[in-house]
Amino acid sequence: MKVYINGKFHDRADARISVFDHGLLYGDGVFEGLRIYHGRVFKLGEHIERLYRSAKAISLDIPMSIEEMQDAVIETVEVNGKEDGYIRLVVTRGEGRLGVDPSSCRRATVIIIVSDIQLYPEEYYEKGIAIITASSRRMPSDTLDPRIKSLNYLNNILAKIEAEQAGCLEAVMLNREGFVAECTGDNVFIVRDSELLTPDPCHGALDGITRRFVMELAASAGMRASEAAITRYDLYTADECFLTGTGAEIMPVIRIDGRTIGSGKPGRITRMLTERFRRVISEQHGLTV
Ligand SMILES: Cc1ncc(COP(=O)(O)O)c(C=O)c1O
Repeated sequence: MKVYINGKFHDRADARISVFDHGLLYGDGVFEGLRIYHGRVFKLGEHIERLYRSAKAISLDIPMSIEEMQDAVIETVEVNGKEDGYIRLVVTRGEGRLGVDPSSCRRATVIIIVSDIQLYPEEYYEKGIAIITASSRRMPSDTLDPRIKSLNYLNNILAKIEAEQAGCLEAVMLNREGFVAECTGDNVFIVRDSELLTPDPCHGALDGITRRFVMELAASAGMRASEAAITRYDLYTADECFLTGTGAEIMPVIRIDGRTIGSGKPGRITRMLTERFRRVISEQHGLTV
């Protein structure tokens, strides 16, 4: 494995950054998780755009252009010879003095890791998963806008620990008002009367790239797909529920807080969207944007 750090490639064991990097000291930075399918980076342009927007929102200057970043990602994939895998793109505030003040950090640190993806077993996609509602709430959007994909995941980690302690893979996080925001590393959708509904980013959801893509797939199948204020009642009484994310793709949910969702099996619309999603993936080839 070769890891890209600030324009140079390092072997995995030598891929190191300073202990004075504010990404480590304060979680001061932004990141993206991307997928490589059949040698092509999926939705590279969208991920890079979100990265630069996240950086702008936290006033972090990325020391390279969007085109240079795209080239660096593609080069790292090529150097690692990966046809299928996962890319972690991280930009931290960089090395600075102890103390929160970011002005002591002279240059952002850019890291690109290309690795294998730890996919959920196929069985979960066939049978669906059970999830819980976490008591840890999503950070209020007026505190940290959920559209910023920042290195501050402690809130989500606390919810993930709750999921694990309950024997589940994922947990739904609510916002301060009690509306459904998202899961710890995935967006959430429900199907109600053949319509797709997902929380608006203003309720605490990341503007997920898989989420957007699934909404496009639904629209192209003639379905209505919209953002809505969703409560736990809506989850429990939904016809279908599924999660979306770069790692998970589309994961059916069949139980929430002990309530069976729909028939207790992955629903018709969830299966149709999964099939369309997989068809698009299987058709893409070549290392392009
Ligand atoms: C908190 C959170 N929500 C949602 C998602 C899904 O977003 P995407 O589809 O862009 O991977 C992720 C994954 O990165 C995430 O970390």
